[in-house]
Amino acid sequence: MTILIQNGEIVSDGQRYRADLLIEGEKIAQIGENLTAPEGARVIDASGKYIFPGFIDPHVHIHLPFMGTHAKDTHTTGSIAALMGGTTTFIEMLAPAGSEALKDGWKTWTEMAQGHSASDYSFHIGVTRWDDETEATLRELVAQGMKSFKVFLAYKGAFGIDDHALYQVCKLAAELGVVVTAHCENADLVSELQQKLLAEGKTGPEWHEPSRPEGVEAEGTAHFAAFLEMTGARGYVVHLSNARALAAALDAKARGVDLEVEVVIPHLLLDKTYAERPGVEGAKYVMSPPLRDKRNQQALWEALEKGQIDTVATDHCPFDVAQKHMGDDDFTRIPNGIPAIEDRVNLLYTYGVSRGHLSLERFVDAASTRAAQVFGLYPRKGTVSVGSDADLVVYDPHYRGTISAATSHVNNDYSGFEGFELDGRPELVTVRGEVAVEHGEFVGTVGRGQLLRRGM
Ligand code: URP
Ligand code: ZN
Ligand code: ZN
Ligand code: ZN
Repeated sequence: MTILIQNGEIVSDGQRYRADLLIEGEKIAQIGENLTAPEGARVIDASGKYIFPGFIDPHVHIHLPFMGTHAKDTHTTGSIAALMGGTTTFIEMLAPAGSEALKDGWKTWTEMAQGHSASDYSFHIGVTRWDDETEATLRELVAQGMKSFKVFLAYKGAFGIDDHALYQVCKLAAELGVVVTAHCENADLVSELQQKLLAEGKTGPEWHEPSRPEGVEAEGTAHFAAFLEMTGARGYVVHLSNARALAAALDAKARGVDLEVEVVIPHLLLDKTYAERPGVEGAKYVMSPPLRDKRNQQALWEALEKGQIDTVATDHCPFDVAQKHMGDDDFTRIPNGIPAIEDRVNLLYTYGVSRGHLSLERFVDAASTRAAQVFGLYPRKGTVSVGSDADLVVYDPHYRGTISAATSHVNNDYSGFEGFELDGRPELVTVRGEVAVEHGEFVGTVGRGQLLRRGM
């Protein structure tokens, strides 16, 4: 298939310019002024629209097992939702239960994805225990291009690992040159505070945030940074949520620790008052790290614009209302997570670019290019360049709409962003040269999405 996109404004790699763009097969073949359409090419007029590189969500849970239940998406529903919102690649966390061998987890996760995704995808390899089998499998998977690990300093008794395992993971990552991504909350402190609050009869969702206050995350961030410093590993803090944790990350960077920082869309736009709503209405907004006091949002937006925060992801993790009811009598039993895979780009564009905190160039960088660079996908992904995959978003900044669960493609029955206004949406999305979304409809191919082997 040959496609000529005319008259759009390309925004990529810190630049904006008006040009035509020719797609041949799966790749971008030419970018230039007044390109002529080859015989048989489809011509698309992008006047008044932006052309962005396909967006990359580096932090997604499709099928996370959590508190005896599972996040509700499949690769089909999750990838269609992603594409509708302009995300053409996502990286999911492969999360074996602590009792499961990593090689079995790899088999389970890849079988769930293969042949079912409409967008491209990859995996961070979750390390939930340390033993010889884990180390051998990690070496094997890195050789196959799965060049990032994921660890939890939080979730004692579930995914969480101890400091011995953390040290071994970081040491191996330094040896193999892969990045360690980490959920940074001190698990023992969380557990102590949860027990204290429950003993005081404080059982509602409004106690989730006080059970893991800002200092718990700041400690986790500094703790992770110390392990990176001692081992020389590259690190990436996922879903950093508050100014104190940010200070800990920036302090480590200033010492020369090789550290990238991610923020997720719920922490930029929602605050802890959402989780203080009574009963299940609050439970819908329980995630970890928790939604914070609103004053943190200003610090996150500023650090994002300056590039002190590198990426904007979602931590997409859909649990439905019935699942959220599991914690009716005990906030520690609420499955953690807020879905956002479909809405991330539109929300970041609307509340970042359109309404004032973020330059258009930095928006593209944070939601696409940086993730490609950090996770070994650049320049195949994350840039509008000749020779790159033709993953493109023709974006309409004149569209006006609102978010609603009723029109969402995520397999869930509520949206954490219900009623949020949008100042734009993808008009057309391509995945490796195939049109996957057009005029707000999914028209792609389920099963065409590829497992991306990175840094190869
Ligand atoms: O609340 C969250 N974030 N749920 C998903 C698991 C995780 O911590 O990333
Ligand atoms: Zn997490
Ligand atoms: Zn510590
Ligand atoms: Zn997560």
